[in-house]
Amino acid sequence: MPAGLWVTFEGGDGSGKTTQAALLESWLRECGRTVVRTREPGGTDVGNLVRDIVLHHRGEVAPRAEALLYAADRAHHVATLVRPALARGDVVIQDRYLDSSVAYQGAGRVLDAGEIRDLSLWAAEGALPDVTVLLDLDPASARRRLDAADKPFDRLEAEKAEFHERVRGAFLDLADAEPDRFLVLDASLPVEHLAAAVRARVALALGVSVGGTA
Ligand code: TYD
Repeated sequence: MPAGLWVTFEGGDGSGKTTQAALLESWLRECGRTVVRTREPGGTDVGNLVRDIVLHHRGEVAPRAEALLYAADRAHHVATLVRPALARGDVVIQDRYLDSSVAYQGAGRVLDAGEIRDLSLWAAEGALPDVTVLLDLDPASARRRLDAADKPFDRLEAEKAEFHERVRGAFLDLADAEPDRFLVLDASLPVEHLAAAVRARVALALGVSVGGTA
């Protein structure tokens, strides 16, 4: 049985995580791997209830309550979906994980980054991904992409430009602190260029060549 691998995608809203996660999934399936594609918030039935509150609740949610809600989603997600999949030897491709909490609730909502990280680590019993791809994009370009997509903004997307600047800075600091786990990519590059870089990093983690079978 192949060993499981856990890959997370991080970055600001509109940075292209979902596109890259989908391309990685197709490549891994072509290579014959079993893939579980998931996301936070959401990913489970309980998680989708939490998602509805954190993204769509009208009116204020206190910053600490928001942090706890994301952590609650994470606890259930890791325990019931991610860990069992990795134990089966699957590749888990996940849109957002605890780095998003440190960036959005820590830097964005101005809570203590260390406390937010510790809260998530407690929730997930210390689980950290093998590879985290950070798609870095300046907030002005990200906003243009979101505007072009013409979808209503959720609570976080609707935040001001300074909020998104702080989030971006926090993600880059996290990547600096853990260079072995993070792959930082310039998300303004062409989609296929980014996909090739992601495949190369994941192939390395799986111990296969990019053209070979994962
Ligand atoms: P989502 O619709 O998944 O956005 P995206 O396509 O940009 O990933 O919404 C997730 C939102 O939740 C996003 O704005 C970031 C935010 N978020 C946090 O604030 N903290 C967290 O821990 C996570 C996982 C997400």
